[in-house]
Amino acid sequence: MKVLLIGSGGREHAMAWKLSKSPKITKLYIAPGNPGTAIVGENVMIPAEDIAGLKSFALREKIDLTVVGPELPLTMGIVDVFEEAGLKIFGPSKAAAELEGSKVFSKELMSRYKIPTAYFKKFDRIEAAKDYINTHNPPMVVKADGLAAGKGVVICQTRDEALEAVDLMMAKKSFGTAGTRVIVEEFLEGEEASFLAITDGKTVVPLAPAQDHKAIFDGDTGPNTGGMGAYSPTPVVSKELQDEVMRTVMVPTVKAMEAEGRPYKGVLYAGLMISAGRIKVLEFNCRLGDPETQPILMRLEDDLLEVLLKAVECRLEDVSLRWSDKTAVCVVMAARGYPGIYEKGTEIHGLAEAGALEDVVVFHAGTAVKDGRVVTSGGRVLGVTALGVDVKNAIENAYKAVSLISWDGVYCRKDIGRKALRC
Ligand code: AMP
Ligand code: GLY
Repeated sequence: MKVLLIGSGGREHAMAWKLSKSPKITKLYIAPGNPGTAIVGENVMIPAEDIAGLKSFALREKIDLTVVGPELPLTMGIVDVFEEAGLKIFGPSKAAAELEGSKVFSKELMSRYKIPTAYFKKFDRIEAAKDYINTHNPPMVVKADGLAAGKGVVICQTRDEALEAVDLMMAKKSFGTAGTRVIVEEFLEGEEASFLAITDGKTVVPLAPAQDHKAIFDGDTGPNTGGMGAYSPTPVVSKELQDEVMRTVMVPTVKAMEAEGRPYKGVLYAGLMISAGRIKVLEFNCRLGDPETQPILMRLEDDLLEVLLKAVECRLEDVSLRWSDKTAVCVVMAARGYPGIYEKGTEIHGLAEAGALEDVVVFHAGTAVKDGRVVTSGGRVLGVTALGVDVKNAIENAYKAVSLISWDGVYCRKDIGRKALRC
């Protein structure tokens, strides 16, 4: 089978790495990919948002299956365009991807179908939002409705911070049209977990639960990032809780989307807040998580290509996935300045040495090749991922690999996975 994978991050390197192991694959293209995906497939220089260009390529190369990594092409409707052209593609339609593309849509859906989530109000007028904030007690969370590259959520400890966030989104339009509407939501406390599943619109197959580390500094302090590390499995989501999430969140959401006339196929990712065994949904995403995918796919024993194909062909009913008993830990190595303005173009050393360690894969994210050398080109540069017999051992293995990699200005958290040791 000829497969086209769309995207260029660490998640896509992990997906390409896993897809390339499938006995069914004859050719793997990644558009646009990164230097890591070039090791396991062939990169084609078409941007992930160039839907017309990707469609022409898929038709010309007779691609058997296209797999979409990031949310933007999904919310732009790539699945609809490919399906109209008779091409097989894994991911939700434009109407279904609204679940991530609009927080107002997803919160209202959760309310209508009694899927547990934080109490919220939506606003499309700035004065109404401010009146509400002035009559409610902080902390509270202000969210831009649309996609804002992970920056559209502001946790506000004071009313002034909340008023400022509303101004930023609605008056200054810092996130463009994403901030035309906002949500003001109850602040939830607890432990976060990432719960992902693959669905064909009828059957929902859970992936192994994972935990992300969103804040830039150790101890979950400092501004939020796309994710500084992740591990799987996580003790925060016990087997009982997993069943509960399936019963109260994942299956009802897929049914709700069907009832709304937006049948959902692809990855359904629920960001959860868990407190004293109670689950609430913080958000839905319509794609795999980054960096959660890196440890999750390191543990998957089945053929990913076969599973994705079954999802596209609505044949998931007999699928249950097999997972390694080992724990996987992914440590993100980032460039100086991230998540603000960061440096680019610095040479990376030690990739071969780290990658040669047993049970370690160094997934590329923000890298480029310049004059034959691998250099930094993004904020999150690498996702160093290791398996271990338990979480302690996986942490040791991951940080051993991290210690072999260096560049001027490298930064990583030192406490990835440590939360699991506390449980
Ligand atoms: P979201 O994009 O909605 O998942 O928000 C990004 C991050 O903001 C989450 O991973 C949480 O860390 C935090 N967050 C979002 N909503 C809430 C909430 N209601 N209470 C506490 N933290 C939140
Ligand atoms: N790691 C968070 C996300 O993928 O949205």
